[in-house]
Amino acid sequence: MPENKEKIAIVGLGNAGLPLAAVAADSGLAVVGVDINAERCRLINRGLNPIPEEAGLGELIAQHGGKNLVATPRFEDAKDCSTFIVIVPLFVDQSFNPDFTIMESAVRSLGKILKKGDLVVLETTFPPGTTDGKVRAWLRESSGLKDGEFFLAYSPERIMTGYSISRLREFPKVIGGTDEESGFRAYQVYKKFIANLHLVSSAKVAEMIKVMEGCYRDVNIALANELFKICTDLGIDFFEARDKANHEFCHIHLPSTGVGGHCIPVYPWFLIKEMEKREQFSFCQLLSASRQVNDEMIEYWAEKILRACIKVDKPLAAVKICIRGITFRSGVKEFYHSRNLALAKLLTEKGLDAYVFDPLLTKDDVEKKGFRYLEPEQADLIFDPFHLTFECPEREAAGQVDRRQV
Ligand SMILES: NC(=O)c1ccc[n+]([C@@H]2O[C@H](COP(=O)([O-])OP(=O)(O)OC[C@H]3O[C@@H](n4cnc5c(N)ncnc54)[C@H](O)[C@@H]3O)[C@@H](O)[C@H]2O)c1
Repeated sequence: MPENKEKIAIVGLGNAGLPLAAVAADSGLAVVGVDINAERCRLINRGLNPIPEEAGLGELIAQHGGKNLVATPRFEDAKDCSTFIVIVPLFVDQSFNPDFTIMESAVRSLGKILKKGDLVVLETTFPPGTTDGKVRAWLRESSGLKDGEFFLAYSPERIMTGYSISRLREFPKVIGGTDEESGFRAYQVYKKFIANLHLVSSAKVAEMIKVMEGCYRDVNIALANELFKICTDLGIDFFEARDKANHEFCHIHLPSTGVGGHCIPVYPWFLIKEMEKREQFSFCQLLSASRQVNDEMIEYWAEKILRACIKVDKPLAAVKICIRGITFRSGVKEFYHSRNLALAKLLTEKGLDAYVFDPLLTKDDVEKKGFRYLEPEQADLIFDPFHLTFECPEREAAGQVDRRQV
């Protein structure tokens, strides 16, 4: 790595951290990537991309891996950096409370190498107030530094898996400090590799921006799901109605089997749980209801599938059902909170003969996840959760099926 270049460290080289590190390295910064996954670090340093489905990342890793972007599992290797960006996961526990275990461990390890005057920027999506609260306290305790001796800011990662490089290059990115000087310094560093950057008044506002986006999506998907169910019950084609209802001030989303992934189903809970702690129970009624509507969509689709099975000319338990698509979103090999996996499981629990297929997975991949694999052509009924369509080869041959309304 060139000695005279400005060096920044990125802690966490996962789906979000690695594209960020690659884009920073491609802008001419010297990047030290710290990740406890030593195998992932080895791959990156050899110029090999551990996330092949991420468009454009392979070229950047091939060009900068082991050169402008050096990955290491040891925090000490980053001790001469003066900016540290942290992007490791934050999940929710069984009761939907944020689980800070991974974050606390990464921040405390970072604290041990933090020096006077260093800047730390968090990117993981947080309940508003976390950067200036918990993160500041962990850094103070682990570094021995006092408030004012290090700078602290927040800039939410707003990528979408599969499109991360283009999102980092084009999509507006916000950044806010826990004080004015922190915000200003963070803005100066990020400006070197993020073109569309916006300084906001505080880290807390920047935290809220990301959580708000997730809430907006969850509530609007819940609305679309509810309208879809109502339309279907009334014998109205939802898609035709939506097409003409949408205009500049109305954007009805698409219905689905629910909401999956690390982000949208998790972020509303950050606000719901905080309001519960503050005994402001009435403030999150819409957010709570939306979570419930979206999570219960698998019950709705299971019922529809059951009805479709009854029309197949076979005993119910012998109808081979294939769920064609089990990732949380189409085209992305991620399963966190996948409602399509949950749907397949629910069908099996109901005693139906359910199988799965996914163009991104092999038979072995499917079986390792505890599901039964079936080529769609061998099924009596295929449900495509990404298009919400049914196919029933036998009845289709007889011309009896409307794919959308079986
Ligand atoms: N993936 C997305 O699409 C996406 C989009 C927007 C925001 N985010 C945010 O990014 C966060 C991280 O998500 P991700 O998808 O990159 O997760 P990920 O699981 O893909 O990657 C996390 C990485 O952090 C590493 N790690 C864990 N503990 C560590 C430690 N103590 N020190 C150093 N490295 C450590 C892991 O080895 C892993 O490589 C999410 O919680 C979310 O807030 C993700």
